[in-house]
Amino acid sequence: AGRFKATLTAAPAQKTVANRAPTEFWLYNGLLPGPQIEVFEGDEVEILFKNQLPEPTTVHWHGLPVPSDQDGNPQDSVPAGGERIYRFTLPKGSAGTYWYHPHPHGLTAMQVARGLAGTFIVRAKDDPLAELPEQHWMISDLRLDTQTHIPPNTMMDWMNGREGQFVLINGQLQPRIKLTTGTRVRIWNNCAARYLRLAVPGCQWILLGTDGGLLEQAQAPMDEVFLAPAERVEVMVLTEGNLQGELLNRYYDRAKMMVQEPHTDTVLAHMAVEAKGTPSMPPTLNTLPDLGEPVAFKAIEFSEMEMDHGSDEPMTMSMLQSMFMVNGKVFEMDRIDLSSRVGEVEEWRVFNNSHMDHPFHLHGTQFQVVQREQDGVVTPEPFKAWRDTVNLRPYETVVFHVKQLTPGIRMFHCHILEHEDLGMMGNLEVI
Ligand code: C2O
Ligand code: CU
Ligand code: CU
Repeated sequence: AGRFKATLTAAPAQKTVANRAPTEFWLYNGLLPGPQIEVFEGDEVEILFKNQLPEPTTVHWHGLPVPSDQDGNPQDSVPAGGERIYRFTLPKGSAGTYWYHPHPHGLTAMQVARGLAGTFIVRAKDDPLAELPEQHWMISDLRLDTQTHIPPNTMMDWMNGREGQFVLINGQLQPRIKLTTGTRVRIWNNCAARYLRLAVPGCQWILLGTDGGLLEQAQAPMDEVFLAPAERVEVMVLTEGNLQGELLNRYYDRAKMMVQEPHTDTVLAHMAVEAKGTPSMPPTLNTLPDLGEPVAFKAIEFSEMEMDHGSDEPMTMSMLQSMFMVNGKVFEMDRIDLSSRVGEVEEWRVFNNSHMDHPFHLHGTQFQVVQREQDGVVTPEPFKAWRDTVNLRPYETVVFHVKQLTPGIRMFHCHILEHEDLGMMGNLEVI
């Protein structure tokens, strides 16, 4: 097995984005996004982390099956000026498209908004698509005020999740992307709250993989790729002839509270797509095990305390801090909310009892969605996929099967980072 060793330093750093005056970001190793970490299954990873921020932070390895005490839980924060080593070995079967970001309780959203996030790829030695050219689109958003500072969250940001006015791909505003059909494109939605409905008019997408790796088969071509915050995909772009066009983010109505906004599409990049046909791919890309019959069952409910919109009382942070709940409670660092046994197959029913979309995320493992239920209509999931994040439409229930791999504390939460910070999160104790 190989070894991967690196140093990751989180620190303030000046950078110029979107042709404006320099902005003070908080970055990993001075880079926006942070350095890409790329390893093979079986590798031993050792990362020396230095916190040169003026406040505590952690590094969370989103989606990766790392031991819970190496996973950057909010309980394990690194103080300002401190350092620690994160150490883990990535098991066979973990090949996929992941990322890392801070996870200190109450501070995650602003640390990510200031620029802290990076991509993490785990490769399989027997990857059937290893020969294909590859591109990586890490999509994030950024808000700058008129002074080109990154402003703190407003009350509306805390309520709906923050969306910056600039949508960046690999840290760049509206880059030119040159692509050939047959390129394997990995896409990350690293926005705190922005949903992505990606389209290139004149092109179609073939879905090859999700968060936790390749699907069993490439899926039929589709016009759009949907990514809730924190989700990732592997896709291929198809076109009949060469095409000059735009990568758009189509408007998505996630039922924000107290907001009127134009339903317009956003141009994310200028595209030049060269038609080279579809590469020959093996009919089976991957084998996803059937997890088997669940022996334990969990019910999760996301809900929001009703706000009295009619009153003149201004919204306050303390109102917001009691608003976003999981099973009727707001997160507490030392309270165990649920427990699971290592290796036991579980069925989780996650219900969004609110009028706004929330992306659900579980740490430490990948799950397989079985079905989605809304208004009494049950839709079985059309294909098997490994995911660690799944969107919940208002009043939708998502049922998934999952198995925790190692003991320890795992978080589950809404991945709109402001909601997570406000306490839409719980502790799962795995024994
Ligand atoms: Cu990407 Cu608990 O987070
Ligand atoms: Cu995570
Ligand atoms: Cu939420």
